[in-house]
Amino acid sequence: MNLPDLKKAKIRTSEKVNVIKDDYKIPDNIKNIGKGKKFYLKTYGCQMNVHDSENIKGMLNDLMYTETEEMDEADLILLNTCAIRENAHNKFFGFLGRVKHLKEYKPNIIVGVCGCMAQEENVCDILKKNPVVNLVFGTHNLHKLPQLLADAIKTNEQQIEVYSIEGNVYENVPVKRDSKYKAWVNIQFGCDKFCTYCIVPYTRGKQRSRMPEDIINEVKELVNEGYLEVTLLGQNVNAYGKDLDMNYTMANLLSDVAKTGIKRLRFVTSHPWDFSDEMIDTIAKYDNIMPYIHLPLQSGSNRILKLMGRRYTKEEYFELFTKLKERIPGCSITTDIIVAFPGETEEDFNDTLEMVNKCQYDSAFTFIYSPREGTPAAKMANPLTEDEKNERLYKLNELVNKYALENNLKYKGKKVQVLIEGVGEKNTLFGYTDTMKLVNVEGSEDYIGKIVDVIITDVKTWSLDGEIAKK
Ligand code: SAH
Ligand code: SF4
Ligand code: F3S
Repeated sequence: MNLPDLKKAKIRTSEKVNVIKDDYKIPDNIKNIGKGKKFYLKTYGCQMNVHDSENIKGMLNDLMYTETEEMDEADLILLNTCAIRENAHNKFFGFLGRVKHLKEYKPNIIVGVCGCMAQEENVCDILKKNPVVNLVFGTHNLHKLPQLLADAIKTNEQQIEVYSIEGNVYENVPVKRDSKYKAWVNIQFGCDKFCTYCIVPYTRGKQRSRMPEDIINEVKELVNEGYLEVTLLGQNVNAYGKDLDMNYTMANLLSDVAKTGIKRLRFVTSHPWDFSDEMIDTIAKYDNIMPYIHLPLQSGSNRILKLMGRRYTKEEYFELFTKLKERIPGCSITTDIIVAFPGETEEDFNDTLEMVNKCQYDSAFTFIYSPREGTPAAKMANPLTEDEKNERLYKLNELVNKYALENNLKYKGKKVQVLIEGVGEKNTLFGYTDTMKLVNVEGSEDYIGKIVDVIITDVKTWSLDGEIAKK
């Protein structure tokens, strides 16, 4: 039995990453284990987890399982977890409580836990003692799911396979995508930045880039299948290729992927540190690279940025921000901000507000700092009370919302292109502009899966309303 170890997870050697193309196998004796059975999969966390879940669905399909949205009718329940903040933990344990309840009258259900929480040794330890959980596997060995699942069913013993290796790149793992129009494509796994508050470099391992040809071929296939949009995924996409020793950068990758002819190309997440001028030129050059950038700020105080280990100052950040706005016309920029990092004074917090006033973001994800066991910041003293933390978040959100609305108001009466994705909550169509604005549109379902011209009739803080433009 393997338990993950955060200390080991921190080790980075200079050894080359292995690209493994033939490790995913389904032995004949297990290929029908899902026949007539249903699985329920719950996904927490970022796009990376969402896409891992698409791989999990691909593997379960190969085992002949079908998906259900109703947990009560599932034979297999899988929870793909996130460890980024304490509330992610709490949500998961709350859900596990519900699963326990269900298992009391359906004892044969198989319950599996995977994702970033499975990579934390303290969590794994708890799961090990939990009789509800049949199976725990980590982020490094997703492709082993078929065999682990078969073993859990056959032996009736808990299967735990999680380890803290730096990680390889596994190709040819099947995928069942949630959308027929937009696709996630991994370009890089793990993270080597070690921001002092963040658990990701421990739970996802060393930064490893996929080979350019594997990425380009995947996108070419998606274009052939009729996909309109691709989002390149990584924790630090701008650092793509640095570990490959091939003199091939994110700027090269962006232009090669743009040349496949995919209608819309996006990428997340950009760490400001690695954003090169070549990248900016490439984004500006190709019409099919969308004018939208998620550029996490985290804090507007140089003192706090240093404590966070972010490797840029607020001045450098703003210089980059200004360059992006100037060189990519109409570009929208969103961000992530953490308040109440250990030691954040009123003055530091005001610096953050000042940066928001300067950048006037299209929108922002804002968080109260959450200590993660095993990270350096978790040992730093944080004298702020819960009320003070909440007050800062509230103040920040008010400012963020103000600029979100102001930015949206500029769209009123304008014609924009929207990829219509489906029917939303209000029974109207919904989709996103090239600048990543959510638009609700009145119109026939025939528009689903098409990029259409839309006139914006009304705007709100977090969305736009529009109608299909007459030709
Ligand atoms: N790789 C991305 C971030 C991925 S995590 C980047 O560097 O930009 C998404 C966001 O969660 C981060 O940008 C950060 O704002 C937030 N976050 C990460 N760890 C956190 C913590 N311990 N407490 C609060 N927020 C956190
Ligand atoms: Fe976490 Fe920093 Fe890596 Fe982003 S860059 S995943 S915040 S360590
Ligand atoms: Fe969460 Fe892991 Fe993503 S911690 S945010 S699911 S990389």
